[in-house]
Amino acid sequence: MPETSNNVHILDHPLAKHKLTQMRDKNTPRSVFKALTNELSTMLAYEVTKEFETVDVEVETPLMKTVQPELKEQKLAVIPILRAGLGMVDGFTYLLPNAIVSHIGLYRDPVTKKPIEYFRKFPKDIAEREVIIVDPMLATGGSAIEAINIIKSVTDQQIYLVNILDAPEGIKAVQEAHPDVKLYTVEVDEKLNDNAYILPGLGDAGDRLFGTE
Ligand code: PRP
Ligand code: URA
Repeated sequence: MPETSNNVHILDHPLAKHKLTQMRDKNTPRSVFKALTNELSTMLAYEVTKEFETVDVEVETPLMKTVQPELKEQKLAVIPILRAGLGMVDGFTYLLPNAIVSHIGLYRDPVTKKPIEYFRKFPKDIAEREVIIVDPMLATGGSAIEAINIIKSVTDQQIYLVNILDAPEGIKAVQEAHPDVKLYTVEVDEKLNDNAYILPGLGDAGDRLFGTE
């Protein structure tokens, strides 16, 4: 996975690009769009965890005792930005079953494009948890920046922002506001249109996931 710049990781894998192309297709049915979101999320989870630390432990195989690596104990929270982020949760918890899932609800005001918060709920020990924010789309970056602001008000631990498709404008905005956050995505598209939608993009991820077009 190459880094385009500090802290921005773009998934460099033909299978991931293939699945994203299928997601872009306006004729892809909702059930397939949902399955693709899930599959790409698992691939992204695999990439994010690449930098997780391991410790050596003793294990007894059917043949002998041996010392082998396992993941260092680490408290994690996967936080989807509602609604579209919900589509990425299963892909992450499939690989990280011990991560807790908690939620931030934000929607973009249709006129101003600014995020409006309508929900937040975290576990009591959130201050001890590294946080993986998931949301398929990073457009202006407004929703992600607001989500990170909220999470930084409750924990000082490392934050990862994981998207499927980004606009360059969103990456720039998040990096300026939160240079310490590690960004992961499948692709960075060309630009935003006048309505702050990503071009060529894949349309409205929440609407396509939940059938509200
Ligand atoms: C979408 C998307 C992000 C946000 C990205 O959510 O899932 O949360 O827009 O745009 P931004 O980077 O310009 O903030 P939306 O507001 O459409 O809500 P939804 O998930 O409930 O459909
Ligand atoms: N939100 C989406 O779902 N899609 C975009 O292109 C921009 C914001």
